[in-house]
Amino acid sequence: MNKPIGIFDSGVGGLTVAKAIRDVLPNEDVIYFGDTAHLPYGEKSPEAIRNYSMGIADFLVKSGAKAIVIACNSASSVATELLRENFEPQVPVINVIDPVIRAINPSIHDIGIIGTRATIGSGVYQDKIASIHPNVAIHALATPLLVPVIEEGLEKSEIATKTAEHYLGLPEMQKIDALIPGCTHYPLLTDLFNQILGEETVLMDTPNIVAQHVKEVLTSSNMLNGGVQEGSASFFVSDFTPTFERIARHFFRKEIQLSELDIWK
Ligand code: DGL
Repeated sequence: MNKPIGIFDSGVGGLTVAKAIRDVLPNEDVIYFGDTAHLPYGEKSPEAIRNYSMGIADFLVKSGAKAIVIACNSASSVATELLRENFEPQVPVINVIDPVIRAINPSIHDIGIIGTRATIGSGVYQDKIASIHPNVAIHALATPLLVPVIEEGLEKSEIATKTAEHYLGLPEMQKIDALIPGCTHYPLLTDLFNQILGEETVLMDTPNIVAQHVKEVLTSSNMLNGGVQEGSASFFVSDFTPTFERIARHFFRKEIQLSELDIWK
């Protein structure tokens, strides 16, 4: 099906998922919305996040999206049902939580999950992991300083190192055999996390897990783009930020189309 995949997040985080989707499905067109005007979602109420998510999903569907990927854990935690009620079955709604929980290796005893206050406070990861993997001990921690560090473009700085060391050094993170980076911004800190965690702890590759799931959904619904050339990528933000442009160009290499758009006007 020759229509784009719609992807959204509060900012640059969802680009980690968009990039993985591009790697797994290079012929697909993607349309991305970064709600930079309302960032950070992680500090907003569930009602506010649901409201923003509905507005964006509506924009993506009106722009022709054949599927919606909620490339934000905070929005996946509180808005998945609402979006499914409104857009499925015509437009499949994929979140970034369910495929990751299904991918947890059954040999894991202690799993760490870090994310925004909205994600950790929703209890969605904790409840879903407990129901699918009842023998796994869950160590959940809100790590709210990481998103601002990344959105400021400071992911390679000493501030990023100190912040990550602080959180991963807390007692609740000590016994874990695997860590879910439960915020789509966090894969931008993959090298740093691996360095701090060491070889004993597996850092789950969440963008790739989600991208593989997107492929499965599009394949089973007969919605894959049959074309052979590289898909197009268009990016919209509700407020222009230099970090967004830099990371989008870094991930998508060639000239990207980036437009500022206030969909709430
Ligand atoms: N990237 C987002 C997430 O996965 C949201 C970060 C934020 O806006 O607080 O939760």
